[in-house]
Amino acid sequence: MLVVLRIGGSVIASPVNTKLIDQYSALLRKLVKNVHKIMVVVGGGTLAREFIRAGDKLGLDRKEKDWIAIHVSRLHALLLSSKLTKNGAQKIPTSLENAIRIFEKEKIVIMGGLTPGMTTDSVAAKFAVKTNSRLLVKATDQNGIYNKDPRKHKNAKKLDKITYRDLTQLLEQDSHKAGIHQILDPVALNILRRTKIKTMIVNGYHPENIQKAIEGEDVGTTILE
Ligand code: UTP
Repeated sequence: MLVVLRIGGSVIASPVNTKLIDQYSALLRKLVKNVHKIMVVVGGGTLAREFIRAGDKLGLDRKEKDWIAIHVSRLHALLLSSKLTKNGAQKIPTSLENAIRIFEKEKIVIMGGLTPGMTTDSVAAKFAVKTNSRLLVKATDQNGIYNKDPRKHKNAKKLDKITYRDLTQLLEQDSHKAGIHQILDPVALNILRRTKIKTMIVNGYHPENIQKAIEGEDVGTTILE
């Protein structure tokens, strides 16, 4: 099975969590042994935001700040890739075409951001479309999608399933109140909705959740048609 895995920089690298990176490396090895092919997209996390703030202070424009954040996400990808394979650092794709070419030969490809003006969610969604992947798993710092922001509301309830339509509505209504603005970037959401790719939002601090998601277990929140 071909899976796209989007790992939050906020999960493995805010600050850099070597124990977790080690666990992800072991998990990816195990998954490809079980005949899965995995495209991993790692985000920028708090370090990217820190660099964007520095760029603000230096008066850099949007594109320049985006490039810096992209490089931060690639740094995180480099850590995982280097831990996982020999010469892993030389295999970080810088374009979708490049990623697809590597993916034709390798069972795992690890990358960060690609071009200014998007997020790694969109990179993951675009890759899923290009490769006809039917599953995108996003490893986040929350247990899934809640009806309200779980950081602010103790009675927030995790949703086991939600449709793309309802999630889009929730985002449009009041993304801040719902606490889902960071769950999935709206551009990625649109791509996934249009192409009917199943997306699962899971707690990335427990990498075994990713295996469960791939094996069809209900974990986190599943976003479906
Ligand atoms: P990320 O997708 O890394 O978001 O993009 P994040 O919230 O920091 O990630 P996680 O969830 O913790 O992993 C961070 C910023 O990097 C730039 C954009 O400025 C984006 O807001 N970026 C990223 C791009 O410009 N292009 C890309 O392809 C990826």
